[in-house]
Amino acid sequence: MKEALETLREEALGRLDHCISEPEIDHLRVEYLGRKGKLTFLLRGLREIPPEERPQVGDQLNRLRSFLEEQIEIRQKELKTRAKERILREERVDITLPGSRWEQGRMHPITLVMDEIVDVFLGMGFEIARGPDIEDDYHNFEALNMPKDHPARDMQDTFFVSQDRLLRTHTSPVQVRVMESRKPPLQIIAPGAVYRHDDDSTHSPMFHQVEGFMVDHHIAFTDLKGVLTHFLRHIFREETGVRFRPSFFPFTEPSAEIDIQCLLCGGKGLTVDQQNCRVCKGSGWLEILGAGMIDPQVFRFVGYDPERFSGFAFGMGVERIAMLKFGIDDIRLFFQNDMRFLRQFT
Ligand code: DAH
Repeated sequence: MKEALETLREEALGRLDHCISEPEIDHLRVEYLGRKGKLTFLLRGLREIPPEERPQVGDQLNRLRSFLEEQIEIRQKELKTRAKERILREERVDITLPGSRWEQGRMHPITLVMDEIVDVFLGMGFEIARGPDIEDDYHNFEALNMPKDHPARDMQDTFFVSQDRLLRTHTSPVQVRVMESRKPPLQIIAPGAVYRHDDDSTHSPMFHQVEGFMVDHHIAFTDLKGVLTHFLRHIFREETGVRFRPSFFPFTEPSAEIDIQCLLCGGKGLTVDQQNCRVCKGSGWLEILGAGMIDPQVFRFVGYDPERFSGFAFGMGVERIAMLKFGIDDIRLFFQNDMRFLRQFT
C-alpha cells in the first residue's frame, strides 16, 4: 500500500508539472481526487488491510489527498499569474504615446481662388447665379447653339446620366437658365463644378469654372475687353500683359480666347539659359479665358430679340488659374486632400 501511495504521488506530481492550462488541471483533479478517482480507489482498498494498520494507512491517504489538493492549487495560481503577466505584456498600451491629432481644416485653394474671382466681379456689380450639376441636353448643348451631331460637342467629352441627362460639361448652361427666367439688364457670374471624361496632370474629371455674362442694350466688345482686362490684372499682376485672340465657340460670335503674359518667364518664352519656358512652352502667353459676344441664335432660344439686345459672355477654369497663380503643375494635387499640400494656401 505504501508503495502504491508513493507511486501515485510521484505520478500525480509529474503530470501536474506538465499541465499548462486550467482545464487540464481540473481534469487531473477529477482523475486523482474525484469520486471515481485513483485516490478514492486506493481508499476502498483499506478494507483489505489488517485492522491494526488501517489508522496509519488512512492517515497517510488523507495526508496525500491534502498534499495533492495543495499542489494543485499552487499550480493553478501559478498558471493564473502567468496568464495575467502574458496579457499585460502582449496587450501593453503605451499611455505616454501622443494621441491622434485633430487636423484643423482650412479653406481649399480652389475655394480661395473661386472666392477671389467672384469677388472681383461682385465689385463690378455682377450678381451670382447657380444651375444644376446634372443638366439636360437642351441647356448644356442645344440652346447654346450646339445641335445634336454638331462637331463642337466633341470638344467636351460628356458623362451621360441617361439619353437626355448629363453632368454639365461647362457652366455656360447657367446663361441659358438665367435668360429664360429673367429679362435684361443682366450682369451675372456663375461659379460651379463641371465634369468631363478626361484625366491627366492638367485635366480632372471634375473641375470648376466661373462663367460670366452681361446683357443689355448696346453692350459691345469693348465692354468685354474692359471687364476682363480689369479682372485679369486684379487676379494676377497689375502690369500683366493681356491679349485677345480670335477663336471659335458655337455660342458666341465673334469669339475670342484671352491670354496673359506668362507668369514664369514674363512673356519672353525663354528661361535664363535660353531654354523654352516650361509653363508657356516657349510662347510667352498663357490661355486663361474663352469669351465672345453672345450669339444671336442663343438669344432666340431664350426668347430675346437679338435686334434689341446684345451681350458678352466668358468662361474660365478655376483649377487652371489656381495652378498658374500658385505654380502647381499637377491638377490632381487639388483632390488628394493631403494636408501638407492644402496647408500651404491662405
Ligand atoms: N464654355 C466654354 C468651355 O467650357 C468656355 C466659354 C467660352 C464660356 C466662351 C463662354 C464663352 O461663356 O463665351 O470651354
